[in-house]
Amino acid sequence: MTRSSAPGKVYLFGEHAVVYGEPAVPCAIERRARVGVQRRDDGKLRVHAEDLSLDGFTVEYGGSADEQPDVDVSESLVTAAMGYVDGAIEQVREVTGEEEVGFDVTIESDIPLGAGLGSSAAVVVAAIDAATRELGVELEPTEIAERAFRTEYEVQEGQASRADTFCSATGGAVRVEGEDCGSIEAPDLPLVIGFDGGAGDTGELVAGVRNLREEYPFAEDTVAAIGDVVRNGEEALEAGDLEELGRLMNFNHGLLSALGVSSRSLDSMVWGARDAGAYGAKLTGAGGGGCIVALDPTDETETALSYTPGCEETFRAELAETGVERLE
Ligand code: PMV
Repeated sequence: MTRSSAPGKVYLFGEHAVVYGEPAVPCAIERRARVGVQRRDDGKLRVHAEDLSLDGFTVEYGGSADEQPDVDVSESLVTAAMGYVDGAIEQVREVTGEEEVGFDVTIESDIPLGAGLGSSAAVVVAAIDAATRELGVELEPTEIAERAFRTEYEVQEGQASRADTFCSATGGAVRVEGEDCGSIEAPDLPLVIGFDGGAGDTGELVAGVRNLREEYPFAEDTVAAIGDVVRNGEEALEAGDLEELGRLMNFNHGLLSALGVSSRSLDSMVWGARDAGAYGAKLTGAGGGGCIVALDPTDETETALSYTPGCEETFRAELAETGVERLE
């Protein structure tokens, strides 16, 4: 058994706009997906997953997409999870040249699924690293990021930026603009997460923004304005100016809200954090439901969120300095 882990992430700035070539700044957090793999010579994939959103399921299939597993969780979640694992293993077969190899795959994750914390990217990055190493091949984090991006791009039918996968593979804070991805310096950020227990449909939300952008020139301007917020945010990060970062996060949330990707529970958590004195708060990821991220060095935001209607869970998130990690 070879095991690797990879972190989830929050978007400090720039989700959605990054799809149209604007910069984005995601930041890896110490919530990880751990993937263990063992080679099988019969070419089959057997996946066992333990996840916050999936009570634990096991599926075995021969790699053909029409084999439906018989499990007691939402079919779309299982299909999505299988799609990502399948895609990751395809990348492993391609890069190692072992076209017929199968694997037993075990996934454990502290990252809620589809909630804006990059769970799928973390699973794909850790799976590619573990499965290539199981076959005696070691890839650099940037190569893992590239192959993980291709996996997400295919599973999400072209609606994926490089942000999640690059951030998860390399760790730290990163800047992504089109195909350019790189690490940036970030101060120690007092990140607090609020989770509404739900998930958004990334494909639908991205399509919604695309439609608005095509219909209204001011929606196009809104996307461009997010780009401006991100550029200001980069300066505030460099200066370590938490107050300015918070103000810009608030602005970013307002623009995302105008694009229709917030929700009642996300807005209520954002306001809960602001009322508690956070420097700022915004949704993270595709939106529609899932998580917000706030900046607050005190305990006030966590306490306020734990009483906010619609908030199921709140926790502090440390920046993950390392991306993909080799466990054994
Ligand atoms: O919700 P997540 O973590 O999958 O983030 C989606 C971010 C988008 O910008 C909406 C899409 C993308 O791939 O960048």
